[in-house]
Amino acid sequence: MPTSTARSTRFLLERFSPKQILSITFANRRINLWEGAVSSGKTIASLWAWLMFVERASTSGELVMIGKTRDAVYRNALQPLMNPEIFEDLALQVDYNPGAPTARIFGRLVHVIGANDVKSENKIRGMTCVGAYVDEGTLLPETFWDMLRTRMRAPGARIFATTNPDAPSHWLREKFIDDPEVRRSMKVFSFELDDNIHLTADYVEETKRMYSGLFYRRFILGEWCAAEGAVFDMFDRSRHVVDILPPITRWLALGVDYGTSNPTHAVLLGIGQDGCLYAAADWRYDGRHQVLVGRAERHRPALGRPDGDIGPRRRPGRLLGSRRHDSGRLPDLGHGGHLRDGGQHPVPLGPECLRRHGHHRAGQLAPVPGPRGVRALRTLGPLESPR
Ligand SMILES: Nc1ncnc2c1ncn2[C@@H]1O[C@H](COP(=O)(O)OP(=O)(O)OP(=O)(O)O)[C@@H](O)[C@H]1O
Ligand SMILES: [Mg+2]
Repeated sequence: MPTSTARSTRFLLERFSPKQILSITFANRRINLWEGAVSSGKTIASLWAWLMFVERASTSGELVMIGKTRDAVYRNALQPLMNPEIFEDLALQVDYNPGAPTARIFGRLVHVIGANDVKSENKIRGMTCVGAYVDEGTLLPETFWDMLRTRMRAPGARIFATTNPDAPSHWLREKFIDDPEVRRSMKVFSFELDDNIHLTADYVEETKRMYSGLFYRRFILGEWCAAEGAVFDMFDRSRHVVDILPPITRWLALGVDYGTSNPTHAVLLGIGQDGCLYAAADWRYDGRHQVLVGRAERHRPALGRPDGDIGPRRRPGRLLGSRRHDSGRLPDLGHGGHLRDGGQHPVPLGPECLRRHGHHRAGQLAPVPGPRGVRALRTLGPLESPR
């Protein structure tokens, strides 16, 4: 029986799904990522590619296997590697005692590392690596990934990583998959549940039944979708989020969802000159972290009118009257702006509001920190011309 990963095409065709074969064959970039649905065959394919790499890896750097914890690396990667039903004779080339800091694969020392918090990056500081296997990449701290990339400095260094999808705003998606610069040195292999030819039809049906909505899209279809899509499934970040707010021709309302045991939210709505409805700014106050006494009264001042430009304030927290408004004076999340409180004192918004009033003081609505660069949301399409 051969003890090498070199196998015939027939062997591969008999044992792996077409997607697995494709990924094993083309995992030749600096970062190779298997992403997608649960139980879709990502780990087994990536482990085969990892074995092929380790067998021939140069000795100019260290080999590491990383997961959220050392135990997770054992359960998710080393245990399957040592399973002869999957890896046949190659399983004997993997030697590991659960809990140990190192394993041996093809006789090479492999460090087994758990990276469960931001301090974990210290564990690989100073190392020069030639190969890294990463289990469930989205679960690792971003700082760990940043450090890992700097460690991959031996010639021909490669990362082999798996992950399930998360939100599209997850750093692994934004900084790696969606970044054209990084993407040039990456291969991304996307898997769906139906790609796994080793599962019984019953198991697949049952797994599909377990999930719905957001989690169905993530865990069965393998899509990176945000939680907002769970309720508004027509929401599309590329269509409905803008970085630059157009001039607002008509301010419509400051909508307030008042809460005592749940957070209070306020959303400022206006119609842009392109005829679309914009949620131009929003605020949030979480009363659970504040004293309860008198909170209702103290909420009110922060819900006054934007700096005299929007028209007569009726009652704090109710719809505001409309008037043409220059978007330059918009109280947006990033640049501040002002609301007037009940006593007509300006209440600064944006970072200034956080600095001066902060979450620790009851009675102020703090701006919700939005995703990087995102200032406003717009509705599905142009509205009828506002009157
Ligand atoms: N080539 C293969 N040979 C034998 N069994 C396989 C193979 N590929 C997948 N399997 C089986 O399918 C199961 C799921 O595969 P795998 O663990 O690779 O999925 P995954 O996409 O990593 O799942 P998860 O997202 O849950 O981590 C494995 O436990 C194994 O039983
Ligand atoms: Mg897996």
